[in-house]
Amino acid sequence: MDARVESQAPVKDAIIKVRDLVVGFGDKLILNHLNLNVYRGEILGFVGTSGGGKSVLTRTILGLVPKRSGTVEVFGENLDDLSEKERSALERRWGVLFQQGALFSSLTVRQNIQFPLRETLHLSQRLLDEIAYTKIEMVGLKCDVAEKLPSELSGGMIKRAALARSLALDPEILFLDEPTSGLDPIGAGDFDELIRTLQQTLGLTVFMVTHDLDSLHTVCDRIAALGDGKVIAEGTIETMMAATHPWLKQYFHGTRARAVQQSHG
Ligand SMILES: Nc1ncnc2c1ncn2[C@@H]1O[C@H](COP(=O)(O)OP(=O)(O)OP(=O)(O)O)[C@@H](O)[C@H]1O
Ligand SMILES: [Mg+2]
Repeated sequence: MDARVESQAPVKDAIIKVRDLVVGFGDKLILNHLNLNVYRGEILGFVGTSGGGKSVLTRTILGLVPKRSGTVEVFGENLDDLSEKERSALERRWGVLFQQGALFSSLTVRQNIQFPLRETLHLSQRLLDEIAYTKIEMVGLKCDVAEKLPSELSGGMIKRAALARSLALDPEILFLDEPTSGLDPIGAGDFDELIRTLQQTLGLTVFMVTHDLDSLHTVCDRIAALGDGKVIAEGTIETMMAATHPWLKQYFHGTRARAVQQSHG
């Protein structure tokens, strides 16, 4: 191989590219010319004040919230340029764990996981069951939860079952909106570890909205922070902790942050 080529740093491949994105509701501007890259194979932690627009950004990337201007590219495709068929083919390549309404309450865990499969593929019941059981095992649940309804599960189990459903179509990108909210610190830590393991074994790219400082320290490769409708800082946890923006300083060095830092040495 040409030595010059070999010595070049690998070019990072942006699997999600958001450019100049403007989103608003009525006269309220939520995202104001926002730019963001998510690189293939990374876990990106997305932080920002409550009500700042993290879920709105997630939903805009997914095409669930209309944008006023700007572009969203996923897998190198501008989402505005796709036909309906191309669009649904692309949607099968990502999985989503929403902040609210994780599972259909009237369906069992198995039926919830099979739901996205039924919509898009024509598989035998036997194969559908096999896939559901594989995903249930993958997220660390026992197979007897398969026939349970969400109301029969704990909060942590619901999160895992919802994660299993988001993995149903073997996605390349996982969108997680506050996956550990409502879990106790140990449950949240276990869930973080699961996400890291899945990301490594399945080669996933993960876009994770989170308030959880522990998650930011332990699982995120990179962090981006939202402020005033824009990304105000991005980088490793060290970069974020050195940031001078008042909100970031307060967030990464406040009382809660100090407790987390102590526990991470
Ligand atoms: N469909 C909608 N119609 C009108 N306003 C909306 C809509 N969706 C979100 N908003 C507003 O957009 C703003 C950003 O909301 P968003 O849910 O993105 O915040 P967030 O950063 O995810 O907050 P949290 O950390 O509390 O989840 C809020 O003021 C919210 O009320
Ligand atoms: Mg939100």
